[in-house]
Amino acid sequence: MNIPFTLVQGAYIVAGLLFILALSGLSKHETARMGNRYGIAGMTIALIATIIGATVGQEAGGVAVGRESGWGGLTWIAPAMIVAALIGVTVARRVEMTQMPELIAMLHSFVGLAAVLVGWNSSYEVAAYPAIHDVEVFVGVFIGAVTLTGSIVAYLKLSAKIKSAPMMLPAHNAVNLGIIVAFVVMTVVYVLVPHDQMVLRQTLLGLMTLLALFLGWHLVASIGGGDMPVVVSMLNSYSGWAAAAAGFLLNNDLLIITGALVGSSGAYLSYIMCRAMNRSFISVIAGGFGVEAGTVASGDADHGEHREVTAEGAAALLGEARTVVITPGYGMATAQAQHAVAELTRRLRERNVKVRFGIHPVAGRLPGHMNVLLAEAKVPYDIVLEMDEINDDLGDTDVVLVIGANDTVNPAAMDDPGSPIAGMPVLHVWEAKDVVVFKRSMATGYAGVQNPLFFKDNTQMLFGDAKARVEDIIAAL
Ligand code: TAP
Repeated sequence: MNIPFTLVQGAYIVAGLLFILALSGLSKHETARMGNRYGIAGMTIALIATIIGATVGQEAGGVAVGRESGWGGLTWIAPAMIVAALIGVTVARRVEMTQMPELIAMLHSFVGLAAVLVGWNSSYEVAAYPAIHDVEVFVGVFIGAVTLTGSIVAYLKLSAKIKSAPMMLPAHNAVNLGIIVAFVVMTVVYVLVPHDQMVLRQTLLGLMTLLALFLGWHLVASIGGGDMPVVVSMLNSYSGWAAAAAGFLLNNDLLIITGALVGSSGAYLSYIMCRAMNRSFISVIAGGFGVEAGTVASGDADHGEHREVTAEGAAALLGEARTVVITPGYGMATAQAQHAVAELTRRLRERNVKVRFGIHPVAGRLPGHMNVLLAEAKVPYDIVLEMDEINDDLGDTDVVLVIGANDTVNPAAMDDPGSPIAGMPVLHVWEAKDVVVFKRSMATGYAGVQNPLFFKDNTQMLFGDAKARVEDIIAAL
């Protein structure tokens, strides 16, 4: 019996189970920390087992670095891991919570790049079942290349380095479909070309890689800013399938299991988010399929004058209120206002005011963003409600405090069919008796559309940094 092989396979099963426990833990606030610990433990075991597999022998099913057996392989892996760990720790320490989606997009691009490199490397190998191996190479490189450029465009859009508006090439749906058909045809030809015709085979692989790189860029460039959250989880799913494809090529069972877990959970998350935003799943994964050029309206109609209020004025409104709903958004996160908001909540509850939070499913910059911030500030879970749970009560609410939210409270999503966020469910804050909007200016939100809420008769704008303004209100109360 090959002891390292058995040990490595056993470790892979344990790591795979820990990843499943991690996913299940991460699905609820109360168990999220535990879920994270399971994930860390699983990844530690997976790394150690993979290094042993790669260094002690090929048959252990690990990554064969440098084709060396014995511990010599470590001379390749160790420096790479030390450099990567240093970069990872530095980036993780520096990144702000609000920059997480762009960091995730960037990391997905690395998974895509790795799958492309593994695929190309494997294309030089002689396999026991050449036809299956050829298909694996083509599929792996294709998914990897789409993930690579798609994630780079997502990173550039999320970090506002390029405009988030959808790019609509004429006949963009036909272009996407044409590339998929070309990929299928080229895969068949690649399998049929004899292995001694290396130049022809590598030319085919090269052409397909270029087409897939173009497709990834085109798919994500065609999707507008408001739909980017779904794109990030969709790329998460693609990166999982790219990793699974690499797992087949490297003969690494754990990579196949982990890739399939990430791929399927990412696809399901994309589906849930599409439902939450009233978007067609097929349309989003097919790069805006069904959205024709020219349907995007600017939403910059003249809405009239807005009214302003001071912190003292807002405190006076709250002093009279019996029911208050707070709808936080991205601005609460950038201002780091959650502790001040929690303190305001405590003060109001001491005065017997019924305070609740209404959380939109895509408020902020990543799913659950607001819930994490409010939990960190020790806001009780039972007063933090989902959009669907609070929307019917907003008509009976005295004051709604919109703290750094914009797109998620925009009535144009319901009233203006030409708006880029048309059809997206929103919090009906305008139905309350009074609405106070905390933001620094009249600038638009993430989707880049004007918000008619700001011009309604019952809305008052409280300008300035959200944290400072909430603290002013606490002082005035
Ligand atoms: P946004 O529509 O982005 O609006 C945030 C508002 O906060 C802005 O209008 C901004 O106005 C204000 N703000 C920024 N910094 C502030 C500060 N220091 N103090 C006070 N206000 C501040 O946010 P939202 O309502 O949370 O909507 C989320 C948007 O992001 C949606 O379009 C969603 O699709 C998108 N998105 C979501 C995700 C996920 S998964 N949740 C991921 C990526 C993108 P001023 O500049 O005038 O202050």
